[in-house]
Amino acid sequence: MSARPITTVKTVVTDIEAAGTGIKLFTLADPDRWELPPFKPGAHIDLHLPNGLVRTYSLCNEPADSARYVIAVRREADGRGGSRALHDEVGIGDVIGVSLPRGGLEPQPRFGRYVFLAGGIGVTPFLSMARHLERTKQADFTLHLIVREEVPLAAHLGVLVEEGRIIVHRTSRAGRPDLAALVGKGGPGTLVACCGPESMIEDFERLTAVWPAASVHIERFVAPPPVIDPDAKPFTLSLARSGGEIHVRAGQTMLAALQEGGIDIATSCCGGICGACKVGWIEGKPVHRDRILSSYERERYLMVCVAGSDSDRLVLDL
Ligand code: FES
Repeated sequence: MSARPITTVKTVVTDIEAAGTGIKLFTLADPDRWELPPFKPGAHIDLHLPNGLVRTYSLCNEPADSARYVIAVRREADGRGGSRALHDEVGIGDVIGVSLPRGGLEPQPRFGRYVFLAGGIGVTPFLSMARHLERTKQADFTLHLIVREEVPLAAHLGVLVEEGRIIVHRTSRAGRPDLAALVGKGGPGTLVACCGPESMIEDFERLTAVWPAASVHIERFVAPPPVIDPDAKPFTLSLARSGGEIHVRAGQTMLAALQEGGIDIATSCCGGICGACKVGWIEGKPVHRDRILSSYERERYLMVCVAGSDSDRLVLDL
């Protein structure tokens, strides 16, 4: 059965830098030093690692720096293997395929102020944004970085810390800061954004639950636990382009059913937070369970790793 085209760009690792305990910065460039596809501040890319794993990382250089993609990777000894492979097996000169950049935060004229809340390595998507805002002077910003003690990427954050644009909160010294005080009251000209451990994101979601969705942005790097729907019914996927049909069993994910049917789908998080498995839908009633698509995007796309169906038949653009 025909596969969905997967667009990857060939890059080569040109630099690896230690950037704190267990953290390395990897710089990727075009093998012939051409410019790389553009990205928004805080966008992310999928790395197709030599061992076959696909993993998503935020870009932490700024978009004007089009010759490189820079990612920060913390080695997770008990993770799913992507960070270990990068830390232990990837060296300068290695070739890595990467996806086109996705997501990120496009600075908008209606926002005169940005408040970023980052927990530990969750600072990476906001570093790109902070650098962009610092250079363009498009808007004011404050980045609150909550760490236990050590500041990740310290050498790269130093100037912004000295300027007071990044405020470091060390929980080992002062306890956990009051998130409500850091978030403030928001307002129509302010965007607040959060990236960090799930507990921090849940607190942030509670604090901003009644705010307009457009004023709040969340970046997740750990997928929440999968949603198990005990009432899920089987349904059929009709593939509009190839003309095939795939049966999805009760409790099975669309992704698993598509893969069983020989359809090649790019994946990374398998939890609805990275966007790698985005597929267009044409007819039916999808149940969206991802954490990234806007309501507008949900009218045309779904994430097959987490989405379900409220109709017996769902037509996908595959
Ligand atoms: S694989 Fe990440 S959203 Fe589906």
